[in-house]
Amino acid sequence: MVVYLNVKVKILGMGHSLPDKILTNKDLEKMVDTSDEWIRERTGILERRIGDEKTASSDLCVKAAKKALDKAGIKPEKLDLIVVATVTPDMLFPSTACIVQDRLGAVNAAAFDIGAGCTGFIYALTVAEKFLLASDYNYALVIGVDMLSKITDYTDRSTCILFGDGAGAAVVGKGGGEAGIIASYLGADGSGGDLLYMPAGGSRLPASEATVCERMHYIKMNGNEVFRFATKTMGMVSEKLVKMAGLTYENIDYFVPHQANIRIIQTAMKRMAIPEDRTIINIDRFGNMSAASIPVAMSEAEEKELFKPGDIVLTVAFGAGLTFGGLVIRWGRN
Ligand code: UT7
Repeated sequence: MVVYLNVKVKILGMGHSLPDKILTNKDLEKMVDTSDEWIRERTGILERRIGDEKTASSDLCVKAAKKALDKAGIKPEKLDLIVVATVTPDMLFPSTACIVQDRLGAVNAAAFDIGAGCTGFIYALTVAEKFLLASDYNYALVIGVDMLSKITDYTDRSTCILFGDGAGAAVVGKGGGEAGIIASYLGADGSGGDLLYMPAGGSRLPASEATVCERMHYIKMNGNEVFRFATKTMGMVSEKLVKMAGLTYENIDYFVPHQANIRIIQTAMKRMAIPEDRTIINIDRFGNMSAASIPVAMSEAEEKELFKPGDIVLTVAFGAGLTFGGLVIRWGRN
């Protein structure tokens, strides 16, 4: 096994893709017993994007990936690896990564999916990082995609107001210099699996007339417990990462939190004393896009040229599993 020393994995280009259709809080008022005011105050969400019947996760992936490859200046044949993080694959198998590999013409890439809920992109990027550092692979495409609208119960007001669809992609490569991933941390607590899950459609409860009638192919969530877990975990993961990187919160130029609830983000910002203009927030426009939330936020920030070479970016997520994790990235290529 080749292990590269003094080499870091760098983000070479990012891209994102969102469905055109906007579902507003006013639209939701007509569907369930809720109000624009309640949703804004309790979550910070104003609207979210929802894919149409014909659009699947791989469609959003391909669009996001093409933009990321273009930005990175990398041809699809150069990719050694494609990792797609999702809990809403096109189908149980083949993996969405394999569908994307074919549609991009990335003929030299290995491809697989990762399921880590909303922490999916962090897991996928960390896996790609380790692959690149421990092998002769040079380039990887990492995508976070979810179309939770496809598994959301639009009669359940406690969940249907939260979620939106999207995909974000990053092309990563390795090289010397200061830029790149400088700390990564992943964790899981499987004992909390039943706080956020979809009961049927797997080997435990295969799809049947009964599972459909009982609405078991939709997201079930204990919002209060997940909220508690999230606020605790965001702090714990941030602290660990900053220490691992040999930094303090004062060194953080940008904070990119998972976008689940503005109150969770504000708690984390307060704890770290990171101001709002240094925090990337898009939950108001896109809701909770699960595995896509962080890469879409980062891709938008990159598009606006917000991140400058040398900037320290801290990104932290939590999600179904339960899972948690984060990364500290020194932005740039060199
Ligand atoms: O990405 C990871 C996945 N998920 C999360 O991170 C979600 C984390 N949890 C949350 O964001 C919040 O717990 C929610 C937004 C889901 C809920 O907010 P909350 O402030 O924790 O509300 P609650 O569940 O404690 O409910 C308070 C009240 C209840 O009414 P009563 O019992 O006090 O009369 C609910 O029935 O609000 C009611 N309620 C609603 N009212 C209007 C719940 N959902 C709604 C709604 N509209 N959509």
